[in-house]
Amino acid sequence: MSFYDKFTFKNGVELKNKLAMSPMTTYSGNKDGTISDQELTYYSERSKEVGMIITGTTFMQENGQGFENQFYAGNDDYIPSLERLSKAIKQHGAKAILQIFHAGRMSKPGLKENQDIVSASNIPAERENAPIPRELKDEEIQEIIKSFYEVTIRAIKAGFDGVEIHGANTYLIQQFFSPHSNRRIDKWGGNTFKRLKFPLKVVDSVIQAKNDMKKDDFIIGYRFSPEERENPGITLEDTKILVDKLCEKELDYLHISLGKYNQTSIREENNKITGKEILKVINGRVPLIGVGSIFSEEDLEKAEEIGYDLIAIGRGLLIEPKVITTLKNEKEIQKIIDKNNTTLPDNLLEKITKHQKSYGITIK
Ligand SMILES: Cc1cc2nc3c(=O)[nH]c(=O)nc-3n(C[C@H](O)[C@H](O)[C@H](O)COP(=O)(O)O)c2cc1C
Repeated sequence: MSFYDKFTFKNGVELKNKLAMSPMTTYSGNKDGTISDQELTYYSERSKEVGMIITGTTFMQENGQGFENQFYAGNDDYIPSLERLSKAIKQHGAKAILQIFHAGRMSKPGLKENQDIVSASNIPAERENAPIPRELKDEEIQEIIKSFYEVTIRAIKAGFDGVEIHGANTYLIQQFFSPHSNRRIDKWGGNTFKRLKFPLKVVDSVIQAKNDMKKDDFIIGYRFSPEERENPGITLEDTKILVDKLCEKELDYLHISLGKYNQTSIREENNKITGKEILKVINGRVPLIGVGSIFSEEDLEKAEEIGYDLIAIGRGLLIEPKVITTLKNEKEIQKIIDKNNTTLPDNLLEKITKHQKSYGITIK
């Protein structure tokens, strides 16, 4: 097996290889929430070699926005903007997957006046100056689930090959699953199984949209973070239950969110590779995308040994749009970006330049 070989999903859709672009927010949409020309160039340049591009995450509800200048997909007026994005990605043969989310309590404070920051419960995140979110009402939760249905219809109309449900990285879907952010005592909270209700309802809603549109070859993926550092927080045992339930759904892939593809637990001292533990639970029922600090052919070989079916590359593709050619010829991607020779959108380049250490990338 090699990640450079073709891959076929069980719905018959073929990828030219097993490498995907990991979803990355660009902070560079137009002020009105449409996709900008800089974003189109950025995606188009990065879609020439990998099999699949997962877009930076988009939002569908006013209070679901996470970041400044994030592109929006909350009503049908935005279908032409989304269509420009899917076309830019697909023109070179990559499949286009739209990542969809609600930021919940992780919405950046200051995005708008009288900002309505919401979550499963009114518990702030454990970070400096985190706002206290407003607990969502039952009817609002139903509305959010419906917004996942509607955005999937829009993604299909806009020509996307699939959607990825963003259940990772501490955003709203994860907030409902987490014992830290979900302290509800109604039907949306309680023990691990009860906290699964919202994520699974979102999955059902997205699958319903695909079925209603009779789009059998539409790809639906789900991204999750296996653990949280907080106490209480999501444990690997909780995630094994989530993953097992997700495997019973008509999903085309699962996507683990990790900083390093071969990392071990962030909560306990053991030497078990998290990706391997998850693969054991999946037991071949659905493909798993691995991710995290893939910068060399050696990394790819080690990721293959773990058993991931596909690999997503994030920063490697920010640095080097021709990621496969570079890996094959030079075996490694240098973590350096030449600011005068990059197709990164301005705001993204500015962010990376400001926080070079945390991104692990040098700008010269
Ligand atoms: C600039 C930037 C933006 C990101 N935005 C998202 C996002 O919108 N959705 C998401 O699921 N992950 C996001 N991530 C996480 C990446 O998808 C990926 O999991 C992470 O960077 C680790 O992979 P890497 O080491 O190959 O970069 C982002 C990462 C970066 C660097």
